[in-house]
Amino acid sequence: MTESRNVVIGVSGGIAAYKACHLIRDFKERGDDVRVVPTPNALNFVGAATFEALSGNPVDTGVFTRVDEVQHVRVGQEADLIVVAPATADVVARIAAGRADDLLTSTILVATCPVVVAPAMHTEMWLNPATQANIRTLRVRGITVLEPAHGRLTGKDTGPGRLLEPVQIAELARTVAETGPLGRGLEGKQVLISAGGTQENIDPVRFIGNRSSGRQGFALAEIAAHKGARVTLVAGDTDELYAPAGADVVRVRSTRDLEVEMNARAVDADVIIMAAAVADFRPASESASKMKKGRDTDALTRIELVENPDVLRGLVDQRRAGETAATIVGFAAETDNVLDNGKAKLKRKGADMLMVNSVAGGAVFGQARNSGWLLGSDGSVREVPDGPKHVVAARIWDAIEAFGLPDPRELAN
Ligand code: CTP
Repeated sequence: MTESRNVVIGVSGGIAAYKACHLIRDFKERGDDVRVVPTPNALNFVGAATFEALSGNPVDTGVFTRVDEVQHVRVGQEADLIVVAPATADVVARIAAGRADDLLTSTILVATCPVVVAPAMHTEMWLNPATQANIRTLRVRGITVLEPAHGRLTGKDTGPGRLLEPVQIAELARTVAETGPLGRGLEGKQVLISAGGTQENIDPVRFIGNRSSGRQGFALAEIAAHKGARVTLVAGDTDELYAPAGADVVRVRSTRDLEVEMNARAVDADVIIMAAAVADFRPASESASKMKKGRDTDALTRIELVENPDVLRGLVDQRRAGETAATIVGFAAETDNVLDNGKAKLKRKGADMLMVNSVAGGAVFGQARNSGWLLGSDGSVREVPDGPKHVVAARIWDAIEAFGLPDPRELAN
């Protein structure tokens, strides 16, 4: 497990400042030492007493308090991670300009640790060229600026600019603390990911399913979205998970539904990841009415199964037929001879990469952590060390980017 960190949570003056309270609790519950540094305006929304009580540390906004402790330098120097949430257009502009006119901006100017900024503002302010230029400046300097969520803003309007949920910000910030800034290598790329388990109906109340939670697929989609990709997530049965910022989420149940959605969307995709736990077999027939014990015992104890289409192989065939140029990545869960089975499966499926993990003893499914090996069709074998599924997702994306994405010029032909 990771050790505790000195986390600075910067809060600026927006309505979403109240959500910072949940963020503080999230880090505190994991054992981190949290120091809240609000801007003076943030205190118009949430009082210093709330931040002090939740963090267990004093709260100051200016550079002229506790001067004997040289706070305006020390807070930044001692931080292991800085998260600014919510970040208004104004604080983004001040960070971009290198200002140090309050304790938060001077802390960021001093810091050498990872800095994660979670913007929250009205859509017009977010899309304004001045804000977009400031965001680019921050990113070029190695600050991770998360994409805002799309949704209901203060008032009646909806659009991009909503603060991400605190659990999403915390998970992404911890990922950045472990792997470094999320680069923008997927800017303009179209990413198609399947996640979760499929359900194959026996009758209106019964189905054949599996234990997949969808967490790894959602984490891959979320990291891709914050690396600049346009993301479509085709999701089967999953735990209750937050939709990644800006992603188009398409819900499916059966393998055949999933196949239809993936095949249709593959054409525009630059990267396709099959993280779904697809049922290999389905009942040969689905009863239109509920099957009954007694009357249908014979049929229920002898459910005949037929093989489902192999979606991954179908996508590879689509590429062979020139219908997509996407880089194609599969997953494999194995219980024994993990590496050898994985290598054989990569070859059989014809994908570019395969993330193989060991599921012996109930590992991985439904768990918060994952590990394994990433195999490339070029013969490469990369070990992915044990870590939270978001950290694993960030490492998988690094490997996919290193493997190579389709060249836009080839796509144009
Ligand atoms: N997959 C698929 N369609 C299927 C079965 C699997 O697209 N009908 C995909 C999965 O999403 C995964 C990869 O293929 O990306 C490997 O899945 P896995 O279940 O490990 O492979 P199988 O082909 O079912 O092989 P086996 O049963 O021999 O382990």
